[in-house]
Amino acid sequence: MTIAPDRAALRALARRPETEIVSDLRRALADSPATVEATTRRGLALIRKAKAEGERETLVAQLMNRYRLSTEEGVVLMCLAEALLRVPDSATANALIRDKIAGRRWKEGEDEDSPLIVALSARGLSLGSATLMLDALGSKANPLTLLKAMVRRSGEPVIRQAALAAMKLLGQQFVMGQTIDAAVKRADKAKTELASFDMLGEAARTAEDARRYYDSYAAAIARIGRDARPGDPFANHGISIKLSALHPRYEYLQGDRVRDELIPNVVELARAARAVNIPLMIDAEESDRLEPHMDVYAALIDAGLADDWAGLGIVIQAYQPRAPEVIRWVAAKARARGVKLSMRLVKGAYWDTEIKRAQTLGLDDFPVFTAKNHTDLNYMVCAQILRECQDCLFPAFASHNAMTLAFVAELFDGADYELQRLHGMGEGAHDAILALSPPPRPVRVYAPVGTHRDLLAYLVRRLLENGANSSFVHQFSDPEVTAEDLAVDPRSIASVPTTIPSGLHLFDPARRNSRGYDLGDPGVPEALMAAIAGARRGDVVAAPIVGGAARDGRPEPVRNPATGATVGQVIEADAAAVDAAVATARAAQRDWSLAGGAFRAERLE
Ligand code: FAD
Ligand code: 2OP
Repeated sequence: MTIAPDRAALRALARRPETEIVSDLRRALADSPATVEATTRRGLALIRKAKAEGERETLVAQLMNRYRLSTEEGVVLMCLAEALLRVPDSATANALIRDKIAGRRWKEGEDEDSPLIVALSARGLSLGSATLMLDALGSKANPLTLLKAMVRRSGEPVIRQAALAAMKLLGQQFVMGQTIDAAVKRADKAKTELASFDMLGEAARTAEDARRYYDSYAAAIARIGRDARPGDPFANHGISIKLSALHPRYEYLQGDRVRDELIPNVVELARAARAVNIPLMIDAEESDRLEPHMDVYAALIDAGLADDWAGLGIVIQAYQPRAPEVIRWVAAKARARGVKLSMRLVKGAYWDTEIKRAQTLGLDDFPVFTAKNHTDLNYMVCAQILRECQDCLFPAFASHNAMTLAFVAELFDGADYELQRLHGMGEGAHDAILALSPPPRPVRVYAPVGTHRDLLAYLVRRLLENGANSSFVHQFSDPEVTAEDLAVDPRSIASVPTTIPSGLHLFDPARRNSRGYDLGDPGVPEALMAAIAGARRGDVVAAPIVGGAARDGRPEPVRNPATGATVGQVIEADAAAVDAAVATARAAQRDWSLAGGAFRAERLE
């Protein structure tokens, strides 16, 4: 484990109170060339245009609008999306569906069938063999009525097939193709857009998983590179890779293994991408992976992979307060080496996980902002920094939020940059920007490739994004939210103190939580190990205390069973100590009994 000294400022920034950081962000935006007025005007025009284009709601948007994540049904949908396709056997799948859907009454007075299962079935049964079943019924009846009747009468196997088909259908919205070949062919048909292919798979559990993902990246680079042209790498399709897919222990505590086992593989992939001239972008993942993420990127730069080639990119998440410092750190590295790198700015896809992890660990603060508009403000500040770094960083802005796109268009008016969106999302906002504020380059679509087996984590992140009340795409698809409601510059939104309890205060007022340690935070494991080493002096002596006084005796060493090291000494209670303790207790018993329950409870507490 080594701590890079040039990143101290970055770490210090992460620990500042959110209110202080946000004041600085607001100051940094005060003189922005993209003013609140201009951004709001442009944003409103974009939103009106996108809304005027009419009904383009995806299946996911429809479902997330009907079954919001704040409702029981929305949560059920999420549970099914996460779990159902992973269940290997029918009995367990039936049990899951029974538990989550069948037989539940969703709303008072509503149809006896869950509207969710009806909707799922309507979607699911319109596929393949299920369609044949409908045809076979040969009815001219309203299909929904028919489906309801079927759901009511059909047994679990039909419901299971319908739910499985519906979940697959949900997933299909986000996947460009099951194989890289199919995905490239499909992307080539969209003549106005480029792609960054993402071979689905992350968080390898074993070295075998990691090898499989490596092979799939390597094959994809070769396939994408087949049609690539020389010159500007950003004129070609590219690839996005996740480092967690390439090593089962990609984490700060495993610094040596990251250096010896992961980095050589990433260097190989980057070399392959460079050889065929396709941009390679390293996705950003959980915040505790940021430090190894930076180590890997630094290693690629030091290995000369960015020399005379601008295709090497890194993703930065604006929901992390550290983002501006990370950009400055990357820019400094690029300038020191005299190279140009690329950078994709996103807000961050793991927000819920970050909050939950910090609470579960009992941490005193969060690694991400706790208010949506704070993330937006940080995104805008990061964009401003990128504008100042155009000599060494080629910026790509990945967002589906028309206000964010409007800010970028104002800020980078006349400059070179790229806009990006996810396959299956953000088409309305991006089409509007293409019509009204065309970016200088084709939009790049992040295009997942693979099968359902590897899709689930990605799918859940997309469902959260589509379903969260604070999310732009969610609000956009809500017919009750007007263009004017949406066209609000984040600078015009007041900051309010967070109501999310941190890990330490999770059980307030009942009790204080135990403090946890974030072992992915450089300095924390080192300090913990030093404290443990300090306590392991071996000369600490524990002894029984009777009647307020420690007993004498012969100290015996206490050993760590794992290492055999002596961690301290203990004087065991002997028969005389036990007799003395019992006699003392007996002598105190009368007063203790007479003192009353309230007194005893208070003392015990
Ligand atoms: P908005 O609706 O404006 O923003 C939603 C985002 O705001 C949430 O995702 C979250 O980041 C943030 N947020 C929500 N609630 C809160 C809150 N209470 N407090 C603080 N912040 C909050 N994400 C990654 O993590 N790594 C990647 O490598 C990555 N690559 C991407 C590539 C592309 C091409 C695209 C389009 C997206 C990528 N993303 C990645 C996903 C991206 O982070 C989400 O799509 C994005 O956060 C949604 O932002 P938005 O501007 O479209 O929407
Ligand atoms: C994710 O995997 C798009 O990288 C982003 O959620």
